Amino acid sequence: MSVNVLTAAIPAAVTDFIHGPHKLLIDGRWITASSEKTFSTRNPADGSILAEIASAEAADVDLAVAAARRAFEDGPWSRMTPAARAKLIWRLADALEAKAEEFAFIETLDNGKPLNDARIIDLPHSIEVLRYYAGWCTKLNGESVSLSNPGTWHAYTMREPVGVVGSITPWNAPLMMAVSKLAPALAAGCTVVLKPAEQTPLTALRLGQLILDIGFPEGVVNILTGFGETAGAAITAHPGVDKITFTGSADVGRIIVKAAAGDFKRVTLELGGKTPVIVFPDADIDRAIEGAARSIFSNAGQICNAGSRLYAHRDVFDRLVEGVSRRAGEFRVGNGLQASTQMGPVVSQEQLDRISGFIASGRSQGAEVRAGGGRIGSEGYFVQPTVLTGTRPDMDVVRQEIFGPVLCAMSYGEADLDRVAREANATSYGLGAVLWTKDLSTAHKMAKKLKAGTVRVNGGGLDPALPFGGFKQSGWGRELGREGIEAYTELKSVAMAL
Ligand code: NAI
Ligand code: MG
Repeated sequence: MSVNVLTAAIPAAVTDFIHGPHKLLIDGRWITASSEKTFSTRNPADGSILAEIASAEAADVDLAVAAARRAFEDGPWSRMTPAARAKLIWRLADALEAKAEEFAFIETLDNGKPLNDARIIDLPHSIEVLRYYAGWCTKLNGESVSLSNPGTWHAYTMREPVGVVGSITPWNAPLMMAVSKLAPALAAGCTVVLKPAEQTPLTALRLGQLILDIGFPEGVVNILTGFGETAGAAITAHPGVDKITFTGSADVGRIIVKAAAGDFKRVTLELGGKTPVIVFPDADIDRAIEGAARSIFSNAGQICNAGSRLYAHRDVFDRLVEGVSRRAGEFRVGNGLQASTQMGPVVSQEQLDRISGFIASGRSQGAEVRAGGGRIGSEGYFVQPTVLTGTRPDMDVVRQEIFGPVLCAMSYGEADLDRVAREANATSYGLGAVLWTKDLSTAHKMAKKLKAGTVRVNGGGLDPALPFGGFKQSGWGRELGREGIEAYTELKSVAMAL
């Protein structure tokens, strides 16, 4: 690994923005936290402090929720036509597109991901999610209902915005996560209090500037940077919040469900996974090797849907393990600003320690390290792309989400689909599953048997129109697609005697 050679020059606008100040966006204005506390956000490539950020606590949450409530009940937002809302959201997409390069740099500096990934994945996806949901503003209809009970009457349903939404997002794809929660909420007519992850607050704050520039009415979008235990907990417990939408760890998901139970807030949860990559002997093995490697090493494995368990038929297992281990060694790990970098650092010292702990536990429980297995250097939070074999279903590395570039490779004996599906399903998670086969019948049968929110066959990715979410402990509800906007509505039935 080499640091700081051939790094892309950071645009002046990015440096100016990062220098701050970074305040809270409440009711259309940037204000300091009432406690005047701040926290630091760091560059994971070298551990240096990037900026000081306002740290919101309960008093700031009160102000933000009150502003969001006023904007929802009384403000121009509630009187705006769907077409006018669509126009604003579309304008936000255009503004983001115009500043895409600036956002990509900020994301790389704050999160560590390769600049090229931010450019070709995070930014385009965020922009398209905004455009996709802008289109939904004018298409969110109820229906008239055919009735059978006696009498002459008429009934219809309508979809109304759920109200004030508290959105709590993680650090692995900070802008994409913020936008995936803002766009459908705004399109449905809700107002929002957004709390980005404390590790990566910067792109959400820059987005807040665009939201003000474009002229969203005050209070429609409020952005509170701060910690989970303070700002996050105050949002989830607040009686003025109608819905919580959260992406993050299962442990915090449980805390949120308990906090929301008091007043039965609506809750959507996206909680991670342990996605199996299942390779059948008839698959295009070269493509399966490349797909399996990218699935676990992209974004340094910090993807809820990362393919972290490889299940390959014993006839092709050795070839797969050799291939993925070779790719692990070839992946260029380094500072995300370097043009050649394919994998950046992980986000924080905490995450580096977590991942190192998992690799050590795998080793001590008998796993064999076929590639990687260690930290790179002592500056920044770099982990080697890692492949483990000899892993068994009872090991922590197989059962728990590692959220790092660590693949557990296992083989199966016969291509008995029920048995393969049973092993793949033997996890508390159910977010995704990946199949590699050329046999259509195998693909469709397996797609049905797998307990996962998304099944990918021979590749395929994320799309704003495709619902995303999990079975079992991977969460509640779906984001994206029609379901993703309906999740921000209440359904009302109107019945009328004629
Ligand atoms: P986390 O669940 O603690 O953080 C996610 C968000 O929740 C952050 O904005 C955080 O401030 C907030 N939060 C934390 N405690 C809260 C509370 N008591 N009330 C309200 N909000 C709270 O995740 P963390 O600790 O950063 O990562 C730990 C593990 O979680 C990772 O190793 C990974 O396994 C998983 N994870 C999964 C993600 C996914 O995409 N599903 C994203 C991030 C983490
Ligand atoms: Mg945490």
